[in-house]
Amino acid sequence: MVYYRAVGEIPSKKHTLFHAQDGTPCYEEFIGEEGFSSTGSLLYHRGVPSNLVDSRNWALGDLSTTVNHPLGPRHFELPELFAHDEYKGSDLVRHRRLILSNVDVRISYVVADSPSVLYSNGIGDEVIYIESGSAILESVFGRIEVEAGDNVVIPRVAIHRWIPLRVDELGPLKAFCVEGSGHIRFPKRYLSEFGQFLEGAPLCERDIRVPQGSTTVTGPEADVDTDVYVKHRTSSGVLGSIVTYDHHPFDVVGWDGCLYPYAFNYRDFSPITGEIVQPPVAYQIFEGRNFVICNFVPRPLEYHPAAIKVPYYHSNVDSDEVMFYHAGETAARKGSGIANASVSLHPAAYTHGPGRQAYLDSPQMTESNEMAFMVDTFSPLELGEGALASDDPSYAWHWSGRHSTTPGTGGVR
Ligand SMILES: [Fe+2]
Repeated sequence: MVYYRAVGEIPSKKHTLFHAQDGTPCYEEFIGEEGFSSTGSLLYHRGVPSNLVDSRNWALGDLSTTVNHPLGPRHFELPELFAHDEYKGSDLVRHRRLILSNVDVRISYVVADSPSVLYSNGIGDEVIYIESGSAILESVFGRIEVEAGDNVVIPRVAIHRWIPLRVDELGPLKAFCVEGSGHIRFPKRYLSEFGQFLEGAPLCERDIRVPQGSTTVTGPEADVDTDVYVKHRTSSGVLGSIVTYDHHPFDVVGWDGCLYPYAFNYRDFSPITGEIVQPPVAYQIFEGRNFVICNFVPRPLEYHPAAIKVPYYHSNVDSDEVMFYHAGETAARKGSGIANASVSLHPAAYTHGPGRQAYLDSPQMTESNEMAFMVDTFSPLELGEGALASDDPSYAWHWSGRHSTTPGTGGVR
């Protein structure tokens, strides 16, 4: 995050011995990026943060991938992954289905109705995009209530858990999950050299929701051995471990700094629109290591009388393009089979764009009600098991309208 917060009890001078108001000694922990040389926060714990008593394997499930070959665009129908009641007993951390991944980012989908385990991603920051439902994100920094349309950013190593709310009323929590292999930040061009959002940026500090209150666990539960599920990096991939502390890690009496989880809803995003269509970069909200994230939000469309109001045909020379279609109608995908909760993959070395008729009809459009979440990666993405299980084999041919059943002539993978 970009601005300083101080919450709860903290000493007036950092790196000094400190007791909470009830006399309990507190143990200072620094969570800092890039060693001790970038953004960080100082947390004050009642328990010793390093008091580990056990560590064992966490089997992460199927993270295998398949190359997207022969080359072509893809459509994944994610609701098929949790059809019927298959989400019962699932949580947002352990039951993610891998859709796409490369060395820089892992993209998954989950439907959950149960509180998650305590979790820490030691590989990179996460952006959890909430499709529907409601939840509390509890972390060592406090609580954030989240809802549909929220981009929730969780810094690397922050211990947290997800608690779905009002499942009977709103349904299970559905989320599109982006796990980076490094930090995920707002684009530098939106910020002053000191980190404040600039005039002209499509969002500002007022749009960002930060942790509130405390998650401090007290009483007998505080001193019980407690598991934390950790993802951590290897030279060749991702591993999981369950580490056990001799106390509950939600024991923070206060913290301060500029590193903490936060949430931002797409309804608060104010992209620049113009006389003619703007490139996707106008909708960028985050940048990660070798990828960017955009929110395409409902908006009035371009005002030149002949403006093409759907994205013109384009080749992503340097990136694979992933779209998660959240709500509304994406005019460019009309007739393609794409629906809400679909994902499309338009890889580099392939030209894509709207359907022909949508392109020709688009000057008559006046507004868009689409909400789509996009990830553009600069290294090729491979298909996870969730992609293979939800693949729509006809998508690649919908532009041409040809559906041959003879391999090599179109229509068959
Ligand atoms: Fe595109």
